[in-house]
Amino acid sequence: MWDYSEKVMDHFLHPRNVGEIENPDGVGEVGSLACGDALRLTFKLDKEGRIADVKFKTFGCASAIASSSVLTELIKGKTIEEAEKVTNRDIADYLGGLPEQKMHCSVMGREALEAAIENYRTGGKKKHELEGNLVCTCFGVTDKEIERVIRENNLTTVEQVTNYTKAGGGCGGCKGEIEKIIQKVQGDTLRTPVKPKPQKAAKLKNIRKIQLIQQTIDEQIRPSLRSHGGDIELIDVEDNKVIVAFRGMCAQCKTAEFTMKDVVEARLKEFVAPEIFVEEQSQPSQGQ
Ligand code: FES
Repeated sequence: MWDYSEKVMDHFLHPRNVGEIENPDGVGEVGSLACGDALRLTFKLDKEGRIADVKFKTFGCASAIASSSVLTELIKGKTIEEAEKVTNRDIADYLGGLPEQKMHCSVMGREALEAAIENYRTGGKKKHELEGNLVCTCFGVTDKEIERVIRENNLTTVEQVTNYTKAGGGCGGCKGEIEKIIQKVQGDTLRTPVKPKPQKAAKLKNIRKIQLIQQTIDEQIRPSLRSHGGDIELIDVEDNKVIVAFRGMCAQCKTAEFTMKDVVEARLKEFVAPEIFVEEQSQPSQGQ
């Protein structure tokens, strides 16, 4: 399991300000279920123009829930001008740090805040649009977003950019373009990248591992699939390989491959062990 700080676990298990505000002044929606994380942020201002109430709804992992929860605490009571200064680094620092591979959750929080502020400033007329040219089509990430996270977090490798934005984490076709953006932003100041600390994975006995896998599927994965008319079944576990089968709508879904990697596998890596990988049960050939 990931090495989460106490603060992350506290905000994950007891998230603050969950829900949705009726007739909000600002609404921000980012991410997508197909990509594994989605966040909706709503806020209401008081007469002095301060954020009097703010709520979130999220579909995502422990870090996404904790990052969203902390974001609401960070901006409550602030003016719009003060709130828009909050960065993804502020969210991660408030949480006592996030695993490098989970930094994209803090970035998603900051993006939702920006989208909500933009929505407020345009009187709810304008929906948040991606700024810049699309670089990663798998995850809908633009060059402007990549440049910004590189600058704000002093990133120097493609792997780090993937950890912070997900760009490059699908087919990998955009990695060359990401490399060029890093060169452009960092120029000659590129320094030796700091290797992320390896996660300390607790060795699990096989029976415990299977129990945890089943529990994670039941509690963290199945509810969201069922809400979209789908389902998932655990077929077998062979060492670190988990074999599953999609049922219902999920069995015919075009984004099943993303759901497999970015939802099912990501959740199992997070809640069971980082070395786990998932495969879909092979379909019997016709006539069998
Ligand atoms: S285009 Fe970026 S990972 Fe596929």
